[in-house]
Amino acid sequence: MVTHKVAVIAGDGIGPEVLAEGKKVLEKVAELDGTFQFDFTDFPWGCEYYLKNGRMMAEDGIEQLSKFDAIFLGAVGYPGVPDHISLWDLLLIIRKKFDQYVNLRPVKLLKGAPCPLKDVKREDIDMMFVRENSEGEYAGSGSWLFPGKPNEVVIQDGVFSRVGCERIIRYAYELARKEKKTLTSISKGNALNYSMVFWDQIFKEVGEEYPDVETHSFLVDAASMFMVKDPKRFQIVVTSNLFGDILTDLGAAISGGMGLAAGANLNPERKFPSMFEPIHGSAPDIAGQGKANPLATVWSASQMLDFFGHPEWAARLIDIIEEMLVEKAILTPDLGGTAKTNQVGDEVVRKLAEKK
Ligand code: NAD
Ligand code: IPM
Ligand code: MN
Repeated sequence: MVTHKVAVIAGDGIGPEVLAEGKKVLEKVAELDGTFQFDFTDFPWGCEYYLKNGRMMAEDGIEQLSKFDAIFLGAVGYPGVPDHISLWDLLLIIRKKFDQYVNLRPVKLLKGAPCPLKDVKREDIDMMFVRENSEGEYAGSGSWLFPGKPNEVVIQDGVFSRVGCERIIRYAYELARKEKKTLTSISKGNALNYSMVFWDQIFKEVGEEYPDVETHSFLVDAASMFMVKDPKRFQIVVTSNLFGDILTDLGAAISGGMGLAAGANLNPERKFPSMFEPIHGSAPDIAGQGKANPLATVWSASQMLDFFGHPEWAARLIDIIEEMLVEKAILTPDLGGTAKTNQVGDEVVRKLAEKK
């Protein structure tokens, strides 16, 4: 029996509500499969922990997490703790310390999912975002000079290293080659005259090794427009940390909403644990009411199953999400239903057992 050791950081707001369903689903998958099991360890870290202990995670938190095969994360951030503290000291520090430099975010319009776009065919929205996840605009480098003085200056550096750009772009080319899909780079070389010119150059350089991959390059402003007007242009997409963050919320909006948007933070070398999470936040506006949609978390659980080498279970979970979207019987209010968070999780489990 193979054991997958998973650290669970449910976090804040709706994080614990959706993560409970994600764990339930993974437990069921393991039970039905019978050849592997999950060993979950819960960590109480997040904003409440911060208010009690003055820190977002234990002092040796990163060391504790390093012993796991993966991390399953709910959401981080809540009113009462400044966002730049809560996110930097938990979510972002994990992505960085564990060199999770690939952020894989599917933007796929499943059958039955609501789409606000007119004149767009469902199958035309099927992208995989490969977001740079370790540096760029999120390098955390800068300074705040003369605070409160008339000459106050704030500098936020974008850091684009050759190693950092090459490895993410190469990962995207490999994926495009493997899946026989086009690869689109999204950047902004016309205005960001160092970082994005460099990015574009590396996209071309690495591309010379992949003559079989059809490529496209868009400026981020035009890309945003095309994602709405003509989303079929995009298959595999590679972009920087900040652009990837923004464009994947746009991607969520055109493919069913935040309640369906998942992401995997990967350390492809598997030297450190990778982390799986819904891409939404803690949703303080609906927290504690059983209204949160857990399907994004189930989708990220599917990504975890893929990562652990169980692609058939990964695919089964996506099929179940799609069946539920089509049936429209048990869905949360964001998808037009009246079901509670746990009822949606229970239905996924029921469907898993049904088709064994
Ligand atoms: P959010 O994603 O939490 O919420 C945006 C909107 O989407 C809200 O109306 C919310 O109700 C809705 N929504 C989100 N997830 C949903 C779900 N599963 N089901 C149904 N509706 C859902 O974004 P925000 O309000 O900008 O941020 C709230 C807090 O979360 C902030 O502290 C922010 O920094 C943090 N945040 C954390 C993460 C993360 O942990 N990965 C991601 C984004 C934001
Ligand atoms: C995401 C989130 C994070 C990001 C925030 C909470 C730091 O928005 O995972 O999309 O910007 O990466
Ligand atoms: Mn985001």
